[in-house]
Amino acid sequence: MDVLSIPTILTITTLAIILAAACVFKGSANKGKCHPVAGTVIDQLLNFNRLHDYMIEMATKYKTYRILNLFHNEVYTSDPANVEYILTTNFPNYVKGWRHYEKLRDLLGDGIFTVDGEKWRNQRKISSYEFTTKNLREFSSAVFKISAVKLARKVSEAATSNQATDIQDLFTKSALETVFKILLGVDLDTTTEEGILFSSSFDEASGIILYRYVDVFWKVKRFLNIGSEAKMKKCIKVVDEYVYKIIKNKTEQMSKSRDDSRMIKKSDILSRLLEMKKTDPKYLRDITLSFIAAGKDSTASTLTWFFYMMCKHPLLQEKIAEEIRKATGINQNSSIDELANSITDDALDKMQYLHASLTETLRLYPAVPTDGKHCLSDDTFPDGFRVRKGDAVSYQPLAMGRMKSLWGDDAEDFRPERWFDENGCFQQESPFKFTAFQAGPRICLGKEFAYRQMKIFSAVLLGTFKFKLSDEQKRVKYRTMLTLHIDGGLHLHASLLKLNKD
Ligand code: HEM
Repeated sequence: MDVLSIPTILTITTLAIILAAACVFKGSANKGKCHPVAGTVIDQLLNFNRLHDYMIEMATKYKTYRILNLFHNEVYTSDPANVEYILTTNFPNYVKGWRHYEKLRDLLGDGIFTVDGEKWRNQRKISSYEFTTKNLREFSSAVFKISAVKLARKVSEAATSNQATDIQDLFTKSALETVFKILLGVDLDTTTEEGILFSSSFDEASGIILYRYVDVFWKVKRFLNIGSEAKMKKCIKVVDEYVYKIIKNKTEQMSKSRDDSRMIKKSDILSRLLEMKKTDPKYLRDITLSFIAAGKDSTASTLTWFFYMMCKHPLLQEKIAEEIRKATGINQNSSIDELANSITDDALDKMQYLHASLTETLRLYPAVPTDGKHCLSDDTFPDGFRVRKGDAVSYQPLAMGRMKSLWGDDAEDFRPERWFDENGCFQQESPFKFTAFQAGPRICLGKEFAYRQMKIFSAVLLGTFKFKLSDEQKRVKYRTMLTLHIDGGLHLHASLLKLNKD
């Protein structure tokens, strides 16, 4: 994003106002590794292209700190006691709030990610049904397997012709297709021009949304319909057209097959909402987009980082492939389909090392790197840091995952063993320390869904192929978006495994 496009004069004015505001906070010094004013939004703006790295650096210096912004201040914390306080103990005081709402609503409307109170409770209740263990077992696993086999065939084609595969792109498309199928009951083809356009417009819009958090002039730009805001408007138009079309088709399909739907209980959320006579297209659009936002990038980005880790640690890759072979009982003559069919719930439970490695990936590369709330009234965190009414308050899964104070001296290392107890069984961490899925009443609804999908995809791919980076020297960078993607994708070479060792 072009920072220089912001008029210099306005930037200088902002700086002056922010620096003046800094004086107001001088007196509120806190003890320990806290800082009442560690910087301004201009620092974030100047570091926008490396924002995630910048936020890690800041968190390494200060566990809790404040950044000054033009109209409000931002408090960042990576202290588990504070995280527990925000997400659970004093949950009612830390809401999504109007500031997130006004930034996110153009894209996500009144969906579960943007609302609080009754609106949130209602959607949480309606959506929870989709994620029951029964639903996941009976329906989702079958869809994940079909999708994983399709993915493996694409990788196989590339391997046969000795081509590199952009695995991030494949995971993103597959994740989107599975969310559509399972949660919306719609078959989506991401290879069509329309599907590609929808997906890239959604990505671009969510990148620009993040830019709103550091661009104090975004409302002016939106009003004048210029720069990033003009681009965003176009992207949202594409996204909307696509989603409204899906809703229209679904509504027609439902009314055509009314008799069938009485007999076969549909489990996708769109069908259930339509059955409940919730037919307002805007309401359906917002819920639909929330699920797309939740499921599209989160598992795809985690899987991509996981495969990156597998390439960086080939011995671990081998160990996990071995675990998959053992758990599923496949032999060297097994086909991709046979492998997928042998991934039962029991086999998934046995893939403990795979589970730990995915969790370790989420510790180092959480799909949601920073997560923000809005403080409703003056308060004091457990570490003594004073927050004020109107502060934007964020906890930081990405920075927290790398803290030596939380994970020991090897915090930066990828070491799945840290998740095992003395009996070699996977052991959960406190969700206030391992915050990748948030915690408390608004904990991620799709956690089990995500693990199931990631384990099935990984088992089919790692049970069939050996993966290598196509360019060992290339340094991987984060793309500045709401979710933690690899900039430019992840290009891998795959070779077919000889399943049983001689
Ligand atoms: C590795 C994968 C995933 C990670 C790391 C993850 C992480 C998170 C995080 C951090 C939040 C809180 C976001 C916020 O404050 O707005 C969240 C919320 C949520 N997630 Fe996930 N998520 C993942 C996958 C999924 C999937 C696949 C779905 C469903 C398709 C899903 C559904 C949701 C929903 C509905 C919420 C909103 C919960 C609420 O506000 O009550 N997630 N997730």
